[in-house]
Amino acid sequence: MQIVEQPDQVSGPPPRPCPEDMIPPKELAICFGGGDFLGIGRNLVRRMIDWGGLLPSERVLDVGCGVGRAAVPLTEYISERGVYLGMDTYPFGIDWASEHITPHYPNFRFQSVDVFNNLYNPNAAVRASEFVFPYPDASFDFVLLNSVFTHMLPEDVLGYVSQIDRVLDRGGRVYCTWFLMDDDTRAHLKVNESTQVQLKHGFGSFYVDNPKDPEEAVGYEEHFARTILEKHGLVIEAVHRGNWCGRKASNYQDVIIARKT
Ligand SMILES: C[S@@+](CC[C@H](N)C(=O)[O-])C[C@H]1O[C@@H](n2cnc3c(N)ncnc32)[C@H](O)[C@@H]1O
Repeated sequence: MQIVEQPDQVSGPPPRPCPEDMIPPKELAICFGGGDFLGIGRNLVRRMIDWGGLLPSERVLDVGCGVGRAAVPLTEYISERGVYLGMDTYPFGIDWASEHITPHYPNFRFQSVDVFNNLYNPNAAVRASEFVFPYPDASFDFVLLNSVFTHMLPEDVLGYVSQIDRVLDRGGRVYCTWFLMDDDTRAHLKVNESTQVQLKHGFGSFYVDNPKDPEEAVGYEEHFARTILEKHGLVIEAVHRGNWCGRKASNYQDVIIARKT
C-alpha cells in the first residue's frame, strides 16, 4: 500500500484579522462621521508618523478614540513592544473596539470613561474640565486627539490639556486637531459659504456652528490654542492648516503637533 504523506498540521492561534476585517457597522458612524473608515484612518496614521514622528515601540493614548479609526490601521504599525490605549466617553464605540480589536492585538486596549459631552454622553455626571485621566504621570509618548477638541468647549479643553501634559513623558508629542480661526481662515470662510462648518457664532476666543448644541462643532482663535498648549510646556512644533474652510490642503481639520520638553 502506498503511504501518502500528510502535510504537517499547522498549530497555534488563528491568523489575526487584517484592517479590512475590522470595519465597524454603520450604526456606529456617529463616532467617525461615516465615510471611508479605513482610508481616512490610514491617512491619519501616515500623518502621525510623518508629522508627529510616531515610532512603532511607543506608548500611544488616543483620547476620544471613537470606534478605533486610528487603532485599526495602527495594528499594522505599533509593534508588540508598543502600547495603544483608546479612551472615550461614548461606550458603544469602546465596546465594539474592545470586542473586535483587543482579542487579536492584546497591546491595544480601550477604556470607557463617563465624562459629559452634550453630543456623545449627555447623561454623564463628571465634567471634562474636572476629569482626571485614569493614568499615571508620564505614562505615554504620544497623545492623539483627532476631531475631539472640535467638539469641546474652552473650560473642557483647558482641563484636558493639563491632563495631557501630566500623562505625557518628556519628549512626548501631542497630535491634536482643531478648527483654527485667524484672518486667513475668515477670508476663506467668506468666499466658501457652502463648507460644512461655518462657525458663524463667535464668543470671544471660540466659535460654534449651532448655539443650541455648541459641541456639534467648536472652533478656536489660533492664539488661544497656542497659548493653552504653551502654558503647559507643550512646545508647538508645527501647525498644518486643513481644508475644512475651503483652503487647499490634504488634511481636513487643522493639526497642531506639540512636544513636551
Ligand atoms: C468625531 S468623533 C472622533 C472619533 C475618533 N477620534 C476618530 O477620529 O474616529 C469625537 C469623539 O470624541 C469623543 N469625546 C467627546 N468628548 C469627549 C471627552 N470629553 N472625553 C473623551 N472622549 C470624548 C466622542 O465620544 C467621540 O467618539
